[in-house]
Amino acid sequence: MKKGGDNLKITTVTGKLGTFVEVAYEDVKSSNKKIEDLKKKKVFEGKKGQVFPNVFSDESVIYLGLGKKAESSLEDLRLGFCKLGAELNKSKVDKASFDLGQIKGLTVEEAAEAIVEGLLQSEYSFDKFLSEKKERSLKEFALITKDKDKEVKAIIKEVTSVIGGVFLARDLVNEPAMYMTPTALANAAKELEKLGVEVEVHGQKEIEKLGMKAFLAVAKGSEQEPKLIIMKWNGDKRSKDKTALVGKGLTYDSGGYGIKSTGGMVDMHSDMAGSASVIGAFKALAENKVKKNVVGIIAACENMISGGAYKNGDIISSMAGKSIHIGSTDAEGRLTLADALYYIATKEKPNRIIDIATLTGAVIGALGGITTGIVSNDDDFAYDVVRAGNEVGEPAWLLPLNDKYRDMVKGTFSDLLNSQVGSAKGGGAITAGAFLENFVEDTPWVHMDIAGTSYNSAAEGYLPKGGTGVPVKTLYHYIKTRK
Ligand code: BES
Ligand code: ZN
Ligand code: ZN
Repeated sequence: MKKGGDNLKITTVTGKLGTFVEVAYEDVKSSNKKIEDLKKKKVFEGKKGQVFPNVFSDESVIYLGLGKKAESSLEDLRLGFCKLGAELNKSKVDKASFDLGQIKGLTVEEAAEAIVEGLLQSEYSFDKFLSEKKERSLKEFALITKDKDKEVKAIIKEVTSVIGGVFLARDLVNEPAMYMTPTALANAAKELEKLGVEVEVHGQKEIEKLGMKAFLAVAKGSEQEPKLIIMKWNGDKRSKDKTALVGKGLTYDSGGYGIKSTGGMVDMHSDMAGSASVIGAFKALAENKVKKNVVGIIAACENMISGGAYKNGDIISSMAGKSIHIGSTDAEGRLTLADALYYIATKEKPNRIIDIATLTGAVIGALGGITTGIVSNDDDFAYDVVRAGNEVGEPAWLLPLNDKYRDMVKGTFSDLLNSQVGSAKGGGAITAGAFLENFVEDTPWVHMDIAGTSYNSAAEGYLPKGGTGVPVKTLYHYIKTRK
């Protein structure tokens, strides 16, 4: 599996190395006369993300614009250095350096974090199925750090690992469902054992013994055995505090008898993006030996069609003992999550739960591909997750949850409905959350609907086409910085 920084090594140095990077603000006079000349000629104006490579000149330089000084954010820095990395590869540069002292208005640590991430982001590609792979020329990028060498070295190590978690999540999501089966997903989780994560995998028989009837109903139509994957990172043995991460792990969602169209189905190998983000976050937490206790759970299966598959109109049971009317076999994610949430809430009794799921098309209607939708039973907890997301460039937004939505998931002949049939329409991202709330046993809980943000139909900023790895950075940052 790919790892952030496999090709590109980011180092620290005391003097210039290879091509020298200079940044320029649109509205600040540069001390470099050449940059001021270019600005006058309107060739390079220091606009946000503008790159001017002059790598074949004797001094070999490349200029990066950061826009207006007061408006320049960490996200702009990530984006700018991602573009710069791409340009250096295009210009066949193998070594480059940058003096961190050039960044104004940020601490060296803040700047280093964003710059290292941006450079690494430019490195990702999912090319394992291509016969011709693109060569990447850039092998070393050195940061000139002055008196902050130790701090910057630690940042390079940590960011490389977190982006490694992001890349792992992307790789797992991009892998076609013919390979990325529930068993393969379990094996990917097992890889984490090398880092000191405890991993347990349970098959059909054990899942039956546990009474996970909603999970089993979804898995029934598939020839692939369902897997219940449990991961534990105990980074703080002195504390009982524990956060649970629950990932939706549909390695393929055909819709079942509520079958999707070809266009709606073609990317549904990505319906395990929630679980991929949990695995990616665990990798980063364990690699950095974060002093927090985390338990992760994935109910992995496929939603398929066969003579044995569950049907629209069925009334099934669940591990919690609540009956569920199947309004649509395509609303399968909430069924697998219902049992995973109930399992974790009752067997592990965590202090809080975050579930991450590609749950609804409705969240894409509401927030597009930019922002993750959140539903929660605890506003303060939800805002903490939103804040963590904002700090790492992964926006999220809390949607409302009240009794009117809760009523919409109640059944006539069953306790709950997995999908409203008939009159009650709309608010699908929220009603999906309202359904899940029934299985968390009053544990503080945040549900992240990443249907729009975990997968891109085209590259956007530093996020590639396909799996984005969202919200690995948020999960890592939230858990690490939680007080
Ligand atoms: N996996 C889908 C949600 C999805 C849609 C993810 C598009 C990514 C992109 C989920 O299982 C689903 O099919 N949800 C249905 C629910 C409906 C039947 C209540 C949906 O959103 O249409
Ligand atoms: Zn579905
Ligand atoms: Zn699904």
